Amino acid sequence: MGGWQDRAGLQQKNILQEAKGPGKEKIRGIQNAVFVITMAFQKVASLNGIVQGRSVVVEVSGKEIALFNVSGEIFAISNACPHQGGPLGEGEVEDTVVTCPLHGWRFRLDNGEGLTMPHSKVERFDVKIEGNDILIDL
Ligand code: FES
Repeated sequence: MGGWQDRAGLQQKNILQEAKGPGKEKIRGIQNAVFVITMAFQKVASLNGIVQGRSVVVEVSGKEIALFNVSGEIFAISNACPHQGGPLGEGEVEDTVVTCPLHGWRFRLDNGEGLTMPHSKVERFDVKIEGNDILIDL
């Protein structure tokens, strides 16, 4: 999963944790009513700025995000390889798998799952296209 469901779940979890701390009486009555969903899609690039088969790296809120255009479909993952921070945006892409240029770890672009090392995963972001705008869910 990922995106707003995770954040909404996290917020609900935080609310429940708060309910165990000081002031719980105050929160108890509303814990099931408060369910804030924060959709935070932001424009990060233009669709015509990424040629098919290529990638670009953008910096958003201090985070480097690699955008890949695979046969017209845009994928967004962290540019930092979870191994030693290699620049995934400079990696070779085959189908929807990117290979880190430093040591060759491979990651699926569609879900961030690592294919080389068990349990490795790179952060991925939901992507939305609006006209020529690429938006990602931060
Ligand atoms: S930094 Fe990516 S595989 Fe080592």
